[in-house]
Amino acid sequence: MGAPARPNDLYSEKTDPMTDQPPVSYAGPQRVVSGVQPSGALHLGNYLGALVKFARLQHQIDTFIFVADMHAVTVWQDPALLAGQTREIAAAYLAAGLDPSKATIFPQSAVTAHAELGWIFQCVARLGWLDRMTQFKEKSGKHKERSSVGLYTYPVLQAADILVYKATQVPVGDDQKQHLELTRDIAAKFNHDFDRPGFFPLPEAMTEGPGARIMSLRDGSAKMSKSDPSDNSRINLTDDADTIAQKIRKARTDPEPLPETLEELKARPEADNLVGVYGALADMTKAQVLAEFGGQGFGAFKPALADLAVAKLGPVSDAMRRYLADPAEIDRILGAGAERARAAAAPTLDEVRKIVGFWR
Ligand code: TRP
Repeated sequence: MGAPARPNDLYSEKTDPMTDQPPVSYAGPQRVVSGVQPSGALHLGNYLGALVKFARLQHQIDTFIFVADMHAVTVWQDPALLAGQTREIAAAYLAAGLDPSKATIFPQSAVTAHAELGWIFQCVARLGWLDRMTQFKEKSGKHKERSSVGLYTYPVLQAADILVYKATQVPVGDDQKQHLELTRDIAAKFNHDFDRPGFFPLPEAMTEGPGARIMSLRDGSAKMSKSDPSDNSRINLTDDADTIAQKIRKARTDPEPLPETLEELKARPEADNLVGVYGALADMTKAQVLAEFGGQGFGAFKPALADLAVAKLGPVSDAMRRYLADPAEIDRILGAGAERARAAAAPTLDEVRKIVGFWR
């Protein structure tokens, strides 16, 4: 069969990308799926943008949160360290308030259905779609031909992570929007090619909310990132109080006092970022933060922010350390979560095997 090109390059969440019509409605339950890779230390951006959001969602909707160890190995990971890194992310989930009796928390690699559905999706996704993925271009750099094939097909596995649970909402950072578009394309093409309208939902990225875009402390135009060579660019979840205070003191700013209005704030990325961090930590809008600090200099604002950050993050890193002191308990939680995840994924895979026509 000829490979139909994606009919519409202009992505819209309101249309089915195969038909350009409103999508056939998906009748299944609402579900949330997301994951974080166990590579490198977690920072404030991950905490506010992902973990806190997950913990909030678990009270509203059936939530599956995994540790993306299969995605981590798309670049080299030391086998002696990987399982420990996986426990560390799990400890951070728990410390941030994810509750294993509410959310299903598990290691991705423990649920082989992700890989199985991932293969089928590799046969659904088109090369042209993957060629457009900007994250691969960034991560592979100049030496594309030396990258793993897995790094290239990474977003196809991500689609399987999401659709194996028929998730409808996916809380992720801005940088994952394109991968969610691909997920929708894959879902739509599967439904279309196998003539099963509405079989997979077309999941939506949830990228909004306080803490959605926490920027580097050294450069207000770059996202806070674990791969930034400067440790001063980020606040790690494991930083102690002195380190947090010092990093905030050194954070890049301009010489002006904080503005009174959001309009003026927009033109000053570093100030905007620190106001955003304050707001996310204090559960205040940026406007509320400006109402309190507008007109004051950074000499007053930075110490207030440092105190707040220490007060909010201290208990999280303490809790993380407590969990990590008992790896057997973490393993018990991950094992139980994996069992629940396998049970949730199995029916999708059974149906997919039938739909595709595999022998059984
Ligand atoms: N690619 C995501 C990131 O780097 C991690 C991830 C893998 C993910 N699979 C996922 C996120 C499925 C949401 C849903 O942040």
